[in-house]
Amino acid sequence: MSNLLITGGAGFIGSNFVRYLVENTDHRMTVLDKLTYAGSRESLAGLPSDRVELVVGDIVDASTVDALVEQADAVVHFAAESHNDNSLNDPTPFLSTNIIGTFTLLEAARKTGTRFHHISTDEVYGDLELDDPERFTESTPYNPSSPYSSTKAGSDLLVRAWVRSFGVQATISNCSNNYGPLQHVEKFIPRQITNVIDGVAPRLYGRGQNVRDWIHVDDHSSAVLAVLERGRIGETYLIGADGERTNVEVVEAVLRLMGNDPDGYDLVADRPGHDLRYAIDSSKLRDELGWRPAFDDFEAGLESTIDWYRRNEPWWREQKRDAEAKYALTGQ
Ligand code: NAD
Ligand code: TYD
Repeated sequence: MSNLLITGGAGFIGSNFVRYLVENTDHRMTVLDKLTYAGSRESLAGLPSDRVELVVGDIVDASTVDALVEQADAVVHFAAESHNDNSLNDPTPFLSTNIIGTFTLLEAARKTGTRFHHISTDEVYGDLELDDPERFTESTPYNPSSPYSSTKAGSDLLVRAWVRSFGVQATISNCSNNYGPLQHVEKFIPRQITNVIDGVAPRLYGRGQNVRDWIHVDDHSSAVLAVLERGRIGETYLIGADGERTNVEVVEAVLRLMGNDPDGYDLVADRPGHDLRYAIDSSKLRDELGWRPAFDDFEAGLESTIDWYRRNEPWWREQKRDAEAKYALTGQ
């Protein structure tokens, strides 16, 4: 059993990862989370207090970070500003959290020699054409489009430099779009599910032809655990589950599964700089570490996600009001 420091563990993927580790390992976890608009105590509700402790703090604060990294056997770094649309409205916190926060954690790991795993996104690679037979691999050149993806790219490059120049014991994983319970309703799938619950038509940017490569959040968690346990230091692993779908296909599935007319969506203004397509080749993770996704039926995963949002309205009602107020400003 070891002590893990989980940054951003009160957010969507971090809290699902903490829950996954409670259920599948003996690790003890300290969550360091600032509880921004995207994080909440409720996302960690019901977890055993002898296994999971929440420390409310900022990854930019070196004294907090140094003390917690010192006590940890390994760090899994999820904390980030994570939403592209927000990064277009105000990039400032993205620079601070994603770049300076990662730098602060790396410096602490350098001083203590602590094992470090950095969570990143496939968006660092930019986008692909709809008909491109290639998918992203670990050797695809970085070409980020948005303030969000460029700050994630910057944080990945810091990790690589700290491995090479200072011998930090780090790995990186770049995952495709996650779905599942506890995702903030500003994001595509929960926004449309909660719109339908509220009797509002789902909103598709542009013509809805953009493609995302969907993975269930528990498959992301199992892949991160595999890299943490068996990944080679200094290496990058792409995480994906062959889940490419156009946005319109996803919205039609949500509408159908919720008993509505699949054509009952609205087309709204496109996102500036909107990446066309993401697609992951996860051969390295599968061949080297033997990882396989457990969720191979997207519609079934979507159905249980819809069920979670139906049963957990108190968790999302307030954030829905705030998120829709922001979208109203851009007419989306
Ligand atoms: P999220 O926005 O749901 O959660 C982010 C968490 O980080 C929140 O709990 C927030 O309070 C916390 N946080 C933000 N700034 C902080 C700071 N300065 N100090 C401490 N805590 C802070 O994000 P998510 O969707 O769970 O994403 C988690 C990670 O996974 C991010 O690094 C993101 O880039 C990456 N990722 C996300 C996806 C996806 O589909 N959502 C895909 C690939 C990679
Ligand atoms: P999002 O969840 O913001 O993730 P990302 O930008 O990281 O891929 O969006 C997923 C896709 O859905 C993306 O192509 C933008 C699109 N989208 C909509 O069409 N309507 C919406 O209301 C939102 C939030 C996103």
